[in-house]
Amino acid sequence: MKARISDIFNMPENYIGNDIELSGWIRTLRCNNHFGFIELNDGSFLKPVQVVFESTIANFSKITRLNVGSAVRVRGRLVNSQGKGQDFEISSQDIIVESLAPPEFPLQKKRHGFEYLRSIAHLRSRTNVFNTLFRLRSIASYAIHTYFNIKGYIHVHTPIITTSDAEGGADVFAVDKMSKGFFSKQAYLTTTGQLHAEAFALSHKNVYTFGPTFRADNSNTTRHLSEFWMMEPELAFADLEDCIALIEDMLKYLIGYLLEFASEEMLFFDKYIESGLINRLRQVEMAKFDRVSYTKAIDILCNSGEKFENTVIWGNDLQTEHEKYLADKVFKKPVFITDYPKGVKSFYMRRNDDGKTVAATDLLVPAIGEIVGGSQREERYDILIKAMKEHGLNPVDYWWYLELCRYGSVKHAGFGLGFERFLMFVTGMTNIKDVIPFPRTAGTVDF
Ligand code: 4AD
Ligand code: MG
Repeated sequence: MKARISDIFNMPENYIGNDIELSGWIRTLRCNNHFGFIELNDGSFLKPVQVVFESTIANFSKITRLNVGSAVRVRGRLVNSQGKGQDFEISSQDIIVESLAPPEFPLQKKRHGFEYLRSIAHLRSRTNVFNTLFRLRSIASYAIHTYFNIKGYIHVHTPIITTSDAEGGADVFAVDKMSKGFFSKQAYLTTTGQLHAEAFALSHKNVYTFGPTFRADNSNTTRHLSEFWMMEPELAFADLEDCIALIEDMLKYLIGYLLEFASEEMLFFDKYIESGLINRLRQVEMAKFDRVSYTKAIDILCNSGEKFENTVIWGNDLQTEHEKYLADKVFKKPVFITDYPKGVKSFYMRRNDDGKTVAATDLLVPAIGEIVGGSQREERYDILIKAMKEHGLNPVDYWWYLELCRYGSVKHAGFGLGFERFLMFVTGMTNIKDVIPFPRTAGTVDF
């Protein structure tokens, strides 16, 4: 019977005493003249399975010379282990070598630095950290779909090629096809699925989109990518309060989901990446998130006595150093900053009655800063036109978005969760390039 290593660890009682076949890659190999031991990993589980074989099996000496990274199929019986360190092992009579890895295979047993591993992104998913991390990423993605499915949201596949730029601050990647007559207009890789999600919120009420987004920021920081994944729900008949409540509920659900359904992975990160991680996340799960207006946050920063590189003035956007100070030193837990000055946020955010601020929120978390950005949307036609002009946009380019406003628009709101920033938050990884399979940032695209 063919099996995956995760099946064996999750339900050993179904396999003990049975003959099974595993296929995977050699993580370690030890042997003497009579016995050999292989630690085999197949990517389905954090822990490898120990395979024990005797000198009587075919090709004994060939197998004992296999290098780390070689691919094998192993047939044998799963038995309770005599040795310490594992509860069971495979007693193998038959090891079939599928492919050899030469001795220069870069991932020998010693630990490698993350920076070096980034330079071999095509191989790093075979290391413990990245094998675990990308399994966790898959589970987290599934958890997002599960959450919104339970809540009755419709998943919309919004386009990646678009003509409308929604996030004015971010530089866009042009799709160079207009000059060749392919498109009639200049098109870009999307910076957000939001505007198209809004169209669907006005047909399906509660929707979300979850896909890659692109920003040509030059900032080579530990929290910016040129290509990153964003999860964006959009809710009709909803305001900023509904949006804030959803962000908090969703994040707590996602954390609870990972602690329950990715418990081995989370223990791994707690042990090797951030000591105390699980405890920190449990506290987030239990805490009521804090909340403060942008204006109040500026007061706090001004009175902090702290020297910041970027001056704190009402009307300027909060910089990472300000966000981190607020989340790490002042609130020490996730905090919603609300009601930003209209000048630092996008045109689509709903104007507050004070005429100066918009119904926006950013969620800041300790160690990272912003992981969510959201707002109530401007549903009043005239005010929206005015806001577009103030942002230097031509309303003609946004004709279809403006039509949404004219045809049965209602108050609506939504947000975007940066998926990689979320993964940093739940794993303790400190560089965003290490939570996406093949990172793209200014400078190089090697893979
Ligand atoms: O705050 P942002 O720019 O919001 C939007 O794009 C809205 N359209 C979302 C919405 O309301 N539907 O981006 C949302 C989140 C940020 O909070 C951050 O977590 C992440 O996306 N993000 C990035 N992640 C990695 N690299 C970058 N360059 C990012 N820029 C934003
Ligand atoms: Mg933002």
